Amino acid sequence: MSRTLVICKPDAVERGYVGEIISRFERKGLRLVAAELRQLDTDTLGRHYEEHVGKGFYDDLVAFMSRSPAFVAVVEGPDDTFAVVRTLMGPTNPAAAPPGTIRGDFGTIMTENLVHGSDSNESAEREIAIFFPGLA
Ligand code: RTP
Ligand code: MG
Repeated sequence: MSRTLVICKPDAVERGYVGEIISRFERKGLRLVAAELRQLDTDTLGRHYEEHVGKGFYDDLVAFMSRSPAFVAVVEGPDDTFAVVRTLMGPTNPAAAPPGTIRGDFGTIMTENLVHGSDSNESAEREIAIFFPGLA
């Protein structure tokens, strides 16, 4: 078994897609182990997106992720659950994401791509510890 971090980003909460997104993970066979609607702050986002600090898109990314509440969750499934989640999410740019994926079905622009999923087992462990330290 393994766990990964999912964030339904502010655009998903604003548009009312949290249920749809979480439902897709549940129907796939993953299980929620923790979840909460949270207003994310700059410090937490800096830790979460540490690999992007200093990049050209970083300030816009933080402004977007903190503009209204996000739905932060941990999901559990088989080995490499992070990869199952990433497959259901689709590629980073919704304009290039295939239909049937979350980003492909509901998004149009790179800056508002609805959902975050950890990109490796190591990232999942690190990110879960940031948002749900009690689960570690
Ligand atoms: P995320 O971490 O949010 O799940 O997205 P990801 O792994 O698919 O993409 P990542 O490379 O980690 O980038 C994080 C977020 O930054 C924005 N971004 N903009 N070149 C750009 O303008 C650019 N690159 C990345 C995206 O909104 C992406 O989700
Ligand atoms: Mg990423």
